Amino acid sequence: MTISSTPEGVSVTPRHLDFDVSADLKTDWHSNDAFRTAFFNALSLQFPEGEQQFIDAVRHYRDRIGDPKLQAEIRGFIGQEGLHGREHRAYNEALKARGYDIDAIDARFHRHVAWVGRLPASRRLAGTCGAEHYTAVLANALLSHPEWMAGATPAMQALWRWHAIEETEHKAVAFDVYRHCIGDERLRRIVFLYVTYNFFKFTFLNTCSLLKADGKLWSLKTWLGGLNFLWGRPGIIRRCLPDFLAYLRKGFHPWQQDNRELLRHQLGALSPGSMRDGVAR
Ligand SMILES: [Fe+2]
Ligand SMILES: [Fe+2]
Repeated sequence: MTISSTPEGVSVTPRHLDFDVSADLKTDWHSNDAFRTAFFNALSLQFPEGEQQFIDAVRHYRDRIGDPKLQAEIRGFIGQEGLHGREHRAYNEALKARGYDIDAIDARFHRHVAWVGRLPASRRLAGTCGAEHYTAVLANALLSHPEWMAGATPAMQALWRWHAIEETEHKAVAFDVYRHCIGDERLRRIVFLYVTYNFFKFTFLNTCSLLKADGKLWSLKTWLGGLNFLWGRPGIIRRCLPDFLAYLRKGFHPWQQDNRELLRHQLGALSPGSMRDGVAR
């Protein structure tokens, strides 16, 4: 029985890429701008623990999947998220080396993830689908608008592009597992509201903590620039809003936004010299 809905031409392939971004992370690597840098760094702080939670949530249901295609995609998903966690742990360590008290900043998110870990498996999987929707929409936006990252250092552009490509490849894996094993549309949408609240809350708080350490928390210029980036021009959150909200539609599926062409184009930009195919864990 076919359960996977990942379309033809998309393969969920973990790639071991080596990104040395430690020198970049000592600087305001995005456009020499404190807010943009803090915003992306704030996202990175959530990845290692968040993505491990996604892996655990999907793994719980793995044995119930009879479709060999979806089984292979689950292996790919676990491999990709595992590697993202590894790269973002190194990223976050480099932020520590810059002088940020990352352990203190992470403590509140750590408590949240521990709370999520105690929820019933069905809710954890629904939460994973909701969080994966946020990463998929942001990934699609970053890949569609390379100019939004144009002011970033080349190594950071490459790292975020790699993550965005793989988030796009596996955007329906947790969703297909959920649809087959749980299938409750109401639960999916209610949990998404919690995910939305927490995603914006932790991204905002982390951004504030990093800016505070920079001595820029009360800088009007920093916040006006940041608001413009997120809500004005280019307005990355404003422009993502319709795609974020699409998840609340009955019968929503991640591949209703067919961005295979974008994916194919972006895959060509990954340097083959720095890449070797990974082995899923
Ligand atoms: Fe990821
Ligand atoms: Fe993901």
